Amino acid sequence: MQRLVFPKDFEWGVATASYQVEGAVDEGGRGECIWDTFSRKPGAVYAGENGAVACDQYHRYADDIALIKELGFGSYRFSIAWPRIIPAGTGKVNREGIAYYRRLCEELRRQGISTCATIYHWDLPQPLEDAGGWADRSIVGAFEEYARVCFGELGDLVDRWITINEPLCIAYLGYLHGVHAPGHRDRKKAMNAVHHVNMAHGVAVKAYRETGLAAPIGIVWNPTTPRPATARPQDRKAADTARALETEVFMFPCLGKGYPKAALEHIENAVAMEKGDLETIAQPIDFIGVNYYSESPVAFDEKAEFGFRFEPLWQGKTDMGWPVTPGGLERQLRWIAEVSADAFGGAGDIPIYVTENGCAYRDEVGADGRVHDVERIEYFKQHLAVCADLARSGLNLRGYYAWSLLDNFEWAYGYTKRFGIIHVDYRTQKRTPKDSAYFLRDVIAGFGEW
Ligand code: FCB
Repeated sequence: MQRLVFPKDFEWGVATASYQVEGAVDEGGRGECIWDTFSRKPGAVYAGENGAVACDQYHRYADDIALIKELGFGSYRFSIAWPRIIPAGTGKVNREGIAYYRRLCEELRRQGISTCATIYHWDLPQPLEDAGGWADRSIVGAFEEYARVCFGELGDLVDRWITINEPLCIAYLGYLHGVHAPGHRDRKKAMNAVHHVNMAHGVAVKAYRETGLAAPIGIVWNPTTPRPATARPQDRKAADTARALETEVFMFPCLGKGYPKAALEHIENAVAMEKGDLETIAQPIDFIGVNYYSESPVAFDEKAEFGFRFEPLWQGKTDMGWPVTPGGLERQLRWIAEVSADAFGGAGDIPIYVTENGCAYRDEVGADGRVHDVERIEYFKQHLAVCADLARSGLNLRGYYAWSLLDNFEWAYGYTKRFGIIHVDYRTQKRTPKDSAYFLRDVIAGFGEW
C-alpha cells in the first residue's frame, strides 16, 4: 500500500479566481475589466467565450462554500475583482463590491474555512489599461490605492493576503505574447510590465505594514523550472537564461536580490527605473506562494526571442498539452527554499505554500451520475507525494491548494479546459464533485492511501 502522510498542521485549500468563476459582470456596480474587452476581440478567446456568467459564483457562493466544507478543505483561495471594488480603477469605491466580498468571507468563516484573498488575479479595470496598463508607471499608485481599500474594508475578515498572482503571466502573456488580456506584443511594454508588477507588489506590502493588520501577506509566483534539454553547455546556459527571464526577474527583486544579470540589460534598455525602486520592491514578506503545473526542457536557439526555446517531451500530457512532471515540483520547491533562505537579511526558512496545482482533462458526467477522473487522481497522487516527502523532510512547506474548486473560464481557452475537482454543467450550473474531489477529501482526512 502507498500512503500520503503529511504533518498534522499542514493546511489544505482549494483555489479559484474572480474572473474565472464569478460571472455577474454587469451586476453590483462592477466596472469593465480587460478580460471583458479582450474576449470581444475576434479570435482572442476560444469560440468568443467570456466570463460574463462563468460559474455564477457571485450568486452561488454559499452553495460552493458548502461543497468546500463537505470535502474537508480548511482554506479557500479566491481573488478580489478590482473592478468590483473601484470600478474606474482609481477614485470612487463601490460599496456593493465590498459588501459582496464581506458576505463571501463571513460565510467562509461561519463554515470554519479560512480566507485567503488574492488582491490581483488579472482582471484589471479597463480604464487603467486605457491609460497604459501595467506598462505605465501610473499603475503602481493605482494598485496601492486599491490594495489600501482592500486592507481597510476586508482586513478584519481575511486570514492570508496575496498581493499578485503570477507576475510572469501578467507581463509576458499579456504584453509580450499577446495571448492574454490586454493582448500586446511589445517587448518594451512587457519589460515595463515586469518592473511595475514588482513595484505594485512592493508598495502594497509596504502599505499593509502600516495598517497594523496581523494576517500574513505574500505573493504567488509561477516559477518555471527550465532544465537543459541536453548536457551541452549552450543548452545549460539557455536554461539559466530562461530561469533568469521567466522566474528570477520576478522573484529576485522581491527577495531583495535585485534583477538577475541575464535580465538586467533587457530591463535597463526598456524601463526608466527610479532611485529607490529596488528598495520599494524588496519588502519582507511572510510566505511565498508557488503555482506549479509542469516543467519543460530548454534548448539554445539564437533565433528565439531571448535565445532559448522549449523542446518536445516524452511524458504523458494533460488536456492543456502540458506534460505531467512531478519531479519538476520537487526541483522547484527545493530551489525556492534555497534562494529564499538568505533573503531579507537571512531571515530564512520563509513558509512556502503550493497555491495552485492541478490539471485539465476532458471530464464528463457518466451514466452513473459520477465523474471518474482517474487521470486527475493520478496527477494529484504524484504531486502530493512530492509535497508529503518534502514537508516531512523539513522543507518549510506549510500547505497545498488544489486548482481548481470548479471547472471554470480558462482564459484564452474559454470553457474547453476543465481544471475543476468539481464538474460544472454550464447550461444548468449543476455542480458534480469528481472522484478526485473524494480522493482529496480522503487525503485531507488522513487516508491518502491506495
Ligand atoms: C494559472 C492561473 C490560473 C489558472 C491555471 C490553470 O496560470 O493562475 O488562473 O488558469 O493557470
